[in-house]
Amino acid sequence: MPRPMRIAINTGGGDAPGLNAVIRAATLAAIGRGWEVYGIRKSYAGLLRDEEEGLIPLTRRVVRGITHLGGTILGTTNRGDPFAYPMEHADGSVEFKDVSARIVERLETFGFDALIAIGGDGSLRIAHKLSELGVPVIGVPKTIDNDLASTVVTFGLDTALNTAVDAIDKLHSTAESHERVMVVELMGRNCGWIALNAGLASTADAILIPEIPFDLDKVADTIMERQLRGRHFAIIVVSEGAFPVGGRPSFDKPQAVGGMKRLGGIGEWVADELARRTGKETRSLVLGHLQRGGSPTAFDRELALRFGAAAVRFVEAGHFGSMVSLDPPEIVPVPLAEATATLKTVPLTSDKLQTARDLGICLGD
Ligand code: F6P
Repeated sequence: MPRPMRIAINTGGGDAPGLNAVIRAATLAAIGRGWEVYGIRKSYAGLLRDEEEGLIPLTRRVVRGITHLGGTILGTTNRGDPFAYPMEHADGSVEFKDVSARIVERLETFGFDALIAIGGDGSLRIAHKLSELGVPVIGVPKTIDNDLASTVVTFGLDTALNTAVDAIDKLHSTAESHERVMVVELMGRNCGWIALNAGLASTADAILIPEIPFDLDKVADTIMERQLRGRHFAIIVVSEGAFPVGGRPSFDKPQAVGGMKRLGGIGEWVADELARRTGKETRSLVLGHLQRGGSPTAFDRELALRFGAAAVRFVEAGHFGSMVSLDPPEIVPVPLAEATATLKTVPLTSDKLQTARDLGICLGD
């Protein structure tokens, strides 16, 4: 009798609310077909170990009750690129090695017929390179940043937005009581989707995003004009990747070995500069990883479950080298090469930007 189909699932890069729902749906869809499912622990690190402890057998029991849980039961890391894997020597020095051949060999040794790789742009690029090495891969897009081009949206964004809007709503009352300018720095890397969506929904007075280099005098003018209308406070939403005209994104955080450069610091700088230019009391807040934590919203749960189940259907149909993508109302396969070719930035013609302008929100330009 032929052995059952065997698939592996991994989660790479920063976590996003909804990851566990993808794992659950993919596991149940595979088990329903009589397949075996394994989770790879901590992204590709789990495969590089000699022991089998890097693999978790995924059963109905293991994935029970996890749809509403944030994080990932498999663990994740954004320091595990197998094509430039950080190897730390005893003397503390670090060497970056291409261990991709070892990953391919390990997948074969364990008898995996397919890999479901859940990740953002970095992890999906790795998945694409592995597929070029012959690994049968299906990608699942995941990011709160909404920066993946070949899907209308990914899971995680909606939860992050709800967290951000809730926080900004709360800032309104204290900002008004103290007649302060509150500057909120939101995530999103080099794309302004989180800041733009959350800023619109929370009726911010200015929204600064990486796609539109800003002129702080324009923001200061907005604050002073509000003052003339009797509004003595203001809420300024700044994307972590935003920067002033003629400037560059701010990376003021230490970088982990093998990790990505970390954006940060722009919110505090904007707050200090606005205090200087307007004479008003300002405070800044970095919402940070709160945006990635917690229970996924109903939208994110449903999309994640659909992605996980579709990934298994695509394995069955042999759509290897592709990614599940939301093309409403369907989930369709798109080639990983296409999905990872460009980032989805906010188009300058976006209706969302027009709406912000129509509402009198300053975009810094
Ligand atoms: O890509 C998701 C994201 O949360 C970005 O918005 C943010 O810049 C980055 O990850 C933070 O990464 P880390 O978890 O390594 O601090």
